Amino acid sequence: MRILMVTAEFAPLAKVGGLADMAAGLAAWLAAAGHEVRVIMPAYGVTEPPQLRPVTLAEAPAGLEVFELIAPEHFGTPPVYLGDDRDAVRFALLGEAALAHAHADGFHPDIIHAHDWHAAAAVALPAPWHPTPPTVLTLHNIGYQGIFGLDALPDGPLREALRDPTVVEPRLNFLAAGIARATTLTTVSPTHASEILTSEYGAGLDGLLRERADRLHGILNGVDYDLWSPAHDPLIEHPYSAENPGGKADNRAALLEALGLVVDDDVAIVGMITRLTAQKGLDLLIDALPGLVAAQECSLVILGMGEARYVDALRALADAHPGAITLLEAHDETLAHRLLAGSDLLLMPSRYEPCGLTQLYAMRYGTIPVVRATGGLADSVQHFDPLTGEGTGVVFRDYDVGGIHWGLTQALAWHAEPALWRQLMTNAMRSDFSWEKQGPAYLAVYSALSGAVSGAKQD
Ligand code: GLC
Repeated sequence: MRILMVTAEFAPLAKVGGLADMAAGLAAWLAAAGHEVRVIMPAYGVTEPPQLRPVTLAEAPAGLEVFELIAPEHFGTPPVYLGDDRDAVRFALLGEAALAHAHADGFHPDIIHAHDWHAAAAVALPAPWHPTPPTVLTLHNIGYQGIFGLDALPDGPLREALRDPTVVEPRLNFLAAGIARATTLTTVSPTHASEILTSEYGAGLDGLLRERADRLHGILNGVDYDLWSPAHDPLIEHPYSAENPGGKADNRAALLEALGLVVDDDVAIVGMITRLTAQKGLDLLIDALPGLVAAQECSLVILGMGEARYVDALRALADAHPGAITLLEAHDETLAHRLLAGSDLLLMPSRYEPCGLTQLYAMRYGTIPVVRATGGLADSVQHFDPLTGEGTGVVFRDYDVGGIHWGLTQALAWHAEPALWRQLMTNAMRSDFSWEKQGPAYLAVYSALSGAVSGAKQD
């Protein structure tokens, strides 16, 4: 099949969150499975004359072509998201340009696959050729919809196509327009697919989504284990694996040294790698932290950037509890890998989590996830049962201080029992969320739409 993929993020070229890893992993897997995948994304911070420029990626499978949209007037300023009305113009252009390019180049795909609101114009607009191919819109995060006043775009068909169909007042809503018009919708876990049909999790789109529920599929994200395996991760200092876990302790020591932390061997390092936003449970974390550090022996290391209110609160907590709480306000891929490898636990107290990738990575690194039972966290982490020896992490249910407290207490109790902990680590490290397992569900969606028989070579 020929697939035109449109996205604002694509690892390693532009990454703000998990979207970048997911788009890159899925595209690479599809190409490796024998499909022709063409990705269109913006070139951020590039001020050359406007054009679509092919990008050469190291180790890209044959069949994967990535084109960067160079538009200095719109994407010449580096950040991926500017956070104001200019984003309406920028991402409307992305969708329009992707369609125009596919047409001019005669690429005419069997499927157009757009990710999140930034690419939704590519499915809200009719293709400039006939017949318009079937379209897929993947919802990675409906907390961001691309809502703007009508004036953010000039009068015309584009503006009409992106009007918000869910409200009476005239305004733009890229995501809602895409949801209304895409042939099929996917989101990134089965649990989240049912959650977003409720008013609690629907972010105002649950009514529209319920109308389209028969077209909505929940498919858990995959992991590119070529990039995320402690056995051959070039970004960590000491390789290790489920069979040979010894190097994990060396990575822990290296991490502590790099951070200038002195922590006893039996005290658990709890890592967090996260955008500092409400979605990720930062309000809960900040409420819970003083009680947690008073009651528990653990050292929490938080890596991430985000909203100033959370940065300030965490900074104050870190200052008040040196050694127990460390804030690394950065966006740093190398540090992310090293924190995964060096931590004992990974904490994800998300308010909502469409899929979540860090818990999937953590498991492979033998870093036990402590997660709230929502979305993809609920679908990927199995609460450990010491009696049967089954399970891969700790799952707490309630989004409150009691819930997170219970989860961490449980994890630390198991951490104090070496035999149990080894079992839990082995289970986690053997879990498999590879694209080889998750990718075929996307092919099934595409095939059903295009009527094409998949030519993928699968065993
Ligand atoms: C968004 C979601 C996250 C998901 C990622 C990739 O960042 O918040 O849950 O894993 O997209 O799909």
